[in-house]
Amino acid sequence: MNDKVLITGSDGMVGSRFVELYPNKNELLAPTIAEFDLLNPHSMERYLKNNPVSSVINFAAYTDVREAEKDRGNENGLCWNINIKGIKNLVSLFGSKVHLVHISTDMVFSGSKDDKGPYKEVRCPERDPSKVTWYGYTKGEGENIIREADISSTIIRIIYPVRAKYDNKSDYLRKHLKLYNDDALYPMFSDQKISVTFIDELCTTIGKILSDKIRGVYHCSSSDTTTPYELISYLIEAKYGVKNTVKSASIHEFLRTSDNPLRYPIFGGLKCGISQKALGIRYSTCKQIVNKLIGQNISPR
Ligand SMILES: NC(=O)c1ccc[n+]([C@@H]2O[C@H](COP(=O)([O-])OP(=O)(O)OC[C@H]3O[C@@H](n4cnc5c(N)ncnc54)[C@H](OP(=O)(O)O)[C@@H]3O)[C@@H](O)[C@H]2O)c1
Repeated sequence: MNDKVLITGSDGMVGSRFVELYPNKNELLAPTIAEFDLLNPHSMERYLKNNPVSSVINFAAYTDVREAEKDRGNENGLCWNINIKGIKNLVSLFGSKVHLVHISTDMVFSGSKDDKGPYKEVRCPERDPSKVTWYGYTKGEGENIIREADISSTIIRIIYPVRAKYDNKSDYLRKHLKLYNDDALYPMFSDQKISVTFIDELCTTIGKILSDKIRGVYHCSSSDTTTPYELISYLIEAKYGVKNTVKSASIHEFLRTSDNPLRYPIFGGLKCGISQKALGIRYSTCKQIVNKLIGQNISPR
């Protein structure tokens, strides 16, 4: 039986860790974007013809939230193309022939005071683009394309994915470690709700989903929620032994005088109870994730 697994976005922050940790490396096919471009169905067909697979994990996406906002409403823009047309191309290429595991985001939800998180797995993405980032909207529509197609699929939503090291891009924890090291850490919000995804635990989750061909929508995140103030204070104390160095601020106060042009979730976070039960996996708390990353010698970036 063919057990090859195609990985898109294999050099990205999340996908590259999956490749690093996956035990059966000879099962993985990790084409470059030139070999398998979500925006070029011919390249996709050609690659697949020469490399039959039984599953695909789609880590590829347009992920620059700030840049995406400049393309709001543009159905010819790169964000729309990769996150929506790219998904349509994937779905029509693979059809029911392979199992598609797709990575999505908490940003499909608004995190606003009228629709507060943390959100359960059963929630559908926000369909009003004015309530979410443009990136979040396109990712939500990408989810909808998969859900509405008659294919074998799994959607996994993640939030602020973190890992100990990755040279090409920063993440929520490494970014704030760097700001602290540079003496440039700004006050952190103590009234914003977030959770974080330990990428290593996402990799275990995907491994389980692949081996058991599990379908549906799942969340992979810390089993609790936190605030930026609480999380970064703990990180700096646990990493450097320095207490009470982070200053707190209020996002509600901040928004009284400033806009929230990026529509970042204020009451955000993902619940993962249904996923933990269905998959038989226990996710770490935020503090446990920080401790594990310190054990892996997390470095600032
Ligand atoms: N990072 C976050 O904070 C976050 C939060 C929640 C969810 N997610 C989701 O997690 C997944 C992985 O995110 P990430 O942070 O690892 O992203 P990333 O570092 O930006 O990597 C994105 C990957 O997609 C590839 N790609 C872009 N356009 C493509 C195309 N047309 N065809 C094929 N591949 C293409 C990129 O290839 P090149 O490098 O060659 O351009 C890169 O390997 C995404 O689905 C993202 O939406 C991320």
